[in-house]
Amino acid sequence: MPRIINYGSCCIDHVFQVPHFVSPGETLSSTDYRVFPGGKGLNQSIAMAKGGARVIHVGAIGHDGQWLQAELDAAGVDTTYLTLLSAPSGQAIIQVDPNGENAIVIVGGTNQANHEAELTQALSDANEQDMLLIQNETSGNAFAMALAKRKGLRIVFNMAPMNDSALNLPLDLVDYFVVNETEAEALTGASAPDEICKTFIERFSNSALVLTLGQDGAVYCDAERTITQRAFPVTPLDTTGAGDTFTGFLLSHLIGSDQVDEALRIAAAAAALSVTVEGAATSIPTAQAVENFLSQVSLD
Ligand code: RIB
Repeated sequence: MPRIINYGSCCIDHVFQVPHFVSPGETLSSTDYRVFPGGKGLNQSIAMAKGGARVIHVGAIGHDGQWLQAELDAAGVDTTYLTLLSAPSGQAIIQVDPNGENAIVIVGGTNQANHEAELTQALSDANEQDMLLIQNETSGNAFAMALAKRKGLRIVFNMAPMNDSALNLPLDLVDYFVVNETEAEALTGASAPDEICKTFIERFSNSALVLTLGQDGAVYCDAERTITQRAFPVTPLDTTGAGDTFTGFLLSHLIGSDQVDEALRIAAAAAALSVTVEGAATSIPTAQAVENFLSQVSLD
């Protein structure tokens, strides 16, 4: 069975329910505070495993984050290459407003350590059937991309959070880009989905783009086709991790199939379910829950 090697972050999410996002100079009382497992890497590893993929997570945690490893293990993710370091784990300070929208500040912690040795070991027996997934919360992404490409792996880059260092990576090595609207605009300079796809294909003619649009669904495009997927309407409680859930379920199906339309439908359903539950990793549904949901809802 092909594997997805996820070189990704792990974070301790400190989640504050707030009446509105705090303004400059304001001191705001939260209405609730909870701690959840998170980090885009951890969330995506758990989503891929729940979606049925064989997942190896490469990264690091500190002693304060050993419970994050337990979350990965419980989901069936292989944590052989998750290193325990003496530095603090990655942290995220997350505000969630009454509409379920979030605002996130992250602290890199052990996600910013050097992971070249673990990556080299994890990819030592990898081959063309496998995938490397990367987000932009870890350091050393150029090393990971070059190593994976030498071994013939397909590379998926979720360009989140977007910044100059993401844009300066060897992006020609990437096979699938997963971006939201603002990340897509930074990548292509375009803002409307059709313009984004057109500009993307001109620049990356051998790659594919998955553009997530929140309540407006998602678009997949490559040089040969464009596929759109509507969002399933739900009442959002907490949107944190919805993009990670989408990416994870999408890849868990794309790793063994070229049925992009079905992968998008399953990913959209999983993301819809995730926003109805609090937290990031804790809101990721099981494959059975996604299947049940799809049997009950229709977008027609
Ligand atoms: O995508 C959501 C995640 O972003 C949160 O879990 C937080 O840790 C940040 O990395």
